[in-house]
Amino acid sequence: MRILFIGDVVGRSGREAVAAALPRLRAALRIDVAVVNAENASHGFGLAPDMANALLEAGADVITLGNHAWDRKEIIPYISETPRLIRPLNFPPGTPGGGSFMVEVPPGSGIGAGAMRRVLVLQTMGRLYMDALDCPFRTTAAELAKHRLGGPPGSMGLAAILVDFHGEASSEKMAFAHSFDGKVSAVVGTHTHCPTADAQVLPGGTAFQSDAGMSGDYDSVIGMAKDAATMRFWRKMPGERLAPAEGEATVCGTFIETDDATGLARRIEPVRVGGRLAPAMPAA
Ligand SMILES: [Fe+2]
Ligand SMILES: [Fe+2]
Repeated sequence: MRILFIGDVVGRSGREAVAAALPRLRAALRIDVAVVNAENASHGFGLAPDMANALLEAGADVITLGNHAWDRKEIIPYISETPRLIRPLNFPPGTPGGGSFMVEVPPGSGIGAGAMRRVLVLQTMGRLYMDALDCPFRTTAAELAKHRLGGPPGSMGLAAILVDFHGEASSEKMAFAHSFDGKVSAVVGTHTHCPTADAQVLPGGTAFQSDAGMSGDYDSVIGMAKDAATMRFWRKMPGERLAPAEGEATVCGTFIETDDATGLARRIEPVRVGGRLAPAMPAA
C-alpha cells in the first residue's frame, strides 16, 4: 500500500498548492490512499465545506481536522454527512462526526490480486499543551481492539492502519507511536506546522514521523503573516488580527509504503514540493 499524508493546509496559498500538487503526487508516487489535514484551510482557522469538496476532488481520500475543527461553523452539518472528513477520536461522546474512516482501495497486483483492500484512517489529539480531552492512548487502544492489522487478502484483516496524531509535544507523539508499534502501519504527527527530520520505521514495523509539517507559506509564523504574529510576543496584547501569509506554499507531507500482508511499513520518506523549503521526493 502506498500512502501519502499531507500536513496542515494553511489558507489560500496552502489550498491552492495542495490542489495543484495532489493529483501529480498521486500519479508520480502511485498513491493508493491520500490523507490531508485541513484544520487551517480557511484563513488559518477551520475548514469550509467548499474547501473540503475541493480537496476531495483533488484526490484526498480522507480529510482530518484537529483543535481548529469547528472554527468554521458550516462544517458541523457537513461532517455529519461526510464520513471521510474526520475529527479527533477522543473528542467527547456526542460530538458531531467520527474519529475514523475505512477507505476501500481497489485491488492491487501480485498476491491476492482481486480483493478490495481496506485501510483504516484515524485521528487522535494529544493532551500536552492542548485541550483537556479523553486519553488518546486509551481511546485509540479501544478503537484498535475492533480491528486486526494484516492477514490474507480478502480476510477481515486490514491492509493498513494510519493514525494522525494531532499534538504539540513530540514526547507525547513518540510515546504514542511506541505504544502502538507493530499494531498500526503508521503514526504521523500534525499541528506544530514544522516538518521533523525523524521519519523512521520503528523496530516493530510502524512508520513514524513526529510532524509532517504544514502546507503553507514558510516565510511566516507557523503559516500566519509574520508581522502581526511577531508583535504578539513583543507586546502582551492580541494586536492585529492574524491572517495567513500569502507567499508560495511548500506542500509538506510524508510518503509511506506498507506490506499488504502484514500491514507493517517498509519505508517512510518526507515529501516537500514548492515554496521555500528544500524539495524532497521519494523514489517512485
Ligand atoms: Fe494546524
Ligand atoms: Fe492544530
